[in-house]
Amino acid sequence: MRRLIIAGNWKMNGDLADAEVLTTMVKNGVANLSGLEMVICPPSLFLFPLSEIIGKNLKHISLGSQNIYHEDKGAFTGEISGAMIKKICRYTIIGHSERREYFGEDSEDVSDKTKAAIRNKIIPIICVGEKKKTAESYKDAAKELKRDLKGVDKSDYAKLVVSYEPVWAIGTGRAATPEYAAKAITLIREVVGLKTPVLYGGSVDAENIAGFTRRAEIDGALVGGASLKAKEFIKICENAVKSKSFA
Ligand code: 13P
Repeated sequence: MRRLIIAGNWKMNGDLADAEVLTTMVKNGVANLSGLEMVICPPSLFLFPLSEIIGKNLKHISLGSQNIYHEDKGAFTGEISGAMIKKICRYTIIGHSERREYFGEDSEDVSDKTKAAIRNKIIPIICVGEKKKTAESYKDAAKELKRDLKGVDKSDYAKLVVSYEPVWAIGTGRAATPEYAAKAITLIREVVGLKTPVLYGGSVDAENIAGFTRRAEIDGALVGGASLKAKEFIKICENAVKSKSFA
């Protein structure tokens, strides 16, 4: 179901004390915001302690992992499965460009992991996006998504979230324009259909978020660096909510 989602991908940053402070501040900071689903994706090691801070009763705040393995259990040293985290994670990021680039994940892995997430009733946030910007490069993300979804049941598409994250915009301070992101997302919707929430990611901050979320095509954001700063992340959530209600 389409809804406003702001997710924070902390990547491999912080220690447990930082994670607990940040989660507590963000949880309190968005307590009065309605019409928003906020997701925190910390390093896996912190998921359990943070789940105790968030508690079981909040609908609008949840945890996501940054990755899962495609099998549920077995001799896979170093891996964490969907089956292990499903009690505390509503979401998992799958196919982030950093996993594709540094850990060699390809579309087959993304498809297998997506199926594993769905099997365990975890919502996959599938990341797609082109490496370099050219006049036509916004078309590549939808093609990548098509490859990633090979073997995934079409009737499960409404259970997914997709994040359009052009690699050239990640961590560079050079976000895509909302118009450019909307063009890519329109093509992504032709693949997944109209019920799937589609987010934008890449150098999102409190200043530029409303430009994205005010557009009907864009259902929220996957935020990297700015999600590590409590005040900034709360402001991103506030501005996103405001922009959707004024749309
Ligand atoms: P930045 O917001 O730091 O550019 O990172 C985006 C990202 O990779 C989210 O998954």
